[in-house]
Amino acid sequence: MAFNFYGPLLLLGLLLSCTATLPVSVSYQRPPPRDTLTIPLSQNSDGLTPQQVHVSLVGENKMRITWITENEAPSRVDYGTSSRKYTSSSTGSASSYSFMLYTSGHIHDVTIGPLNPSTVYYYRDLGQTGWTNSTLQHLGASGYDVLLLPGDLSYADLDQPLWDSYGMLVEPFASSRPWMVTQGNHEIEQLPPMEPNPFKSYNARWRMPYDVSASDSNLFYSFDVAGGAVHVLMLGSYTDYDSSSAQFKWLMADLAKVDRKKTPWLLALIHAPWYNSNKAHQGEGEDMRKSMESLLYDHMVDVVFAGHVHAYERFTRVYDNSGDGCAPVHITIGDGGNREGLAKKFLDPQPVISVFREASFGHGEFLVVNDTHAHWSWHRNDDDEQVLADQVWLTSLVSETTCKN
Ligand SMILES: [Fe+2]
Repeated sequence: MAFNFYGPLLLLGLLLSCTATLPVSVSYQRPPPRDTLTIPLSQNSDGLTPQQVHVSLVGENKMRITWITENEAPSRVDYGTSSRKYTSSSTGSASSYSFMLYTSGHIHDVTIGPLNPSTVYYYRDLGQTGWTNSTLQHLGASGYDVLLLPGDLSYADLDQPLWDSYGMLVEPFASSRPWMVTQGNHEIEQLPPMEPNPFKSYNARWRMPYDVSASDSNLFYSFDVAGGAVHVLMLGSYTDYDSSSAQFKWLMADLAKVDRKKTPWLLALIHAPWYNSNKAHQGEGEDMRKSMESLLYDHMVDVVFAGHVHAYERFTRVYDNSGDGCAPVHITIGDGGNREGLAKKFLDPQPVISVFREASFGHGEFLVVNDTHAHWSWHRNDDDEQVLADQVWLTSLVSETTCKN
């Protein structure tokens, strides 16, 4: 992949130590709720200007550029390492979908590459109408490599124009760094008999690099970052996960392919947390945990990140509800911010496996330093300033001699 070896991953709306200290439960005096954002649906008059641009990883050294135009337009991207000299170009395809009375714009999908590591690329669409300053920075000194989002994106909940306003809201960020997402319950949008198929909008707008040879689903996939040092499993909490399911079989095959000598870090993202001491969404991840936890444990997954609960909570290394030094750390980072507000009520007393919990909005950063060490930090959104509220150094499980099987 076009990344420097080792770099930070940003987890939105998203550890670790093997040894837990005293549990921490923080009560933060938060500012009053903010108004719902109002974003105009169309900011251009020609219908050809790209909007809602976002990029995502495709394989080892390619990226997918996705954007929407109101009218039909070419699906072509010019790119290069200079903002005035685009030396390469790629073409792709466009599609649209209907949902009840709504018809989407033209959703363009172009894959560019091969790309060189540690290089800033500039790209533009063929229409060249106001998009020329977009940059695709693979690594910046103060930036991050990849944003990981464990579900619940737009909260459109059937109201399709909200997908468009969400695309516009995230474009300044999602057009310059890859966003890798997995689905949440708010992406299901199933309304039989008119709209019988779940995830119609999500699948059309947020196409991820699932392995077509192993699966025909956009709802679970995996990818490498940091030159293959990190393998990320994006699992689907709202598609079948029992032992006879396509997802389970894919996961077994995917894990079997990971060479931990080359890939010391193994991360997983789910939506509904398997461990949760918040009163909200209690037990919702339990069936999936019972099905898949032993698989992740046997393959020494380092961290499991979850969303769904609108609060932050970090657990110690845990397997089957007990602390286990060779098990994944579980982190709930469902606090990206939405109209539903925070999940403020936690179970009392705090379970011993829960190390730190707080009902505040924020984001996390997972910085892979080398084969053996990574730093996790959680940053509270204190007004508009980022405040570091929780941090811990993690050791990769494959470097723990007592954990090697
Ligand atoms: Fe959710």
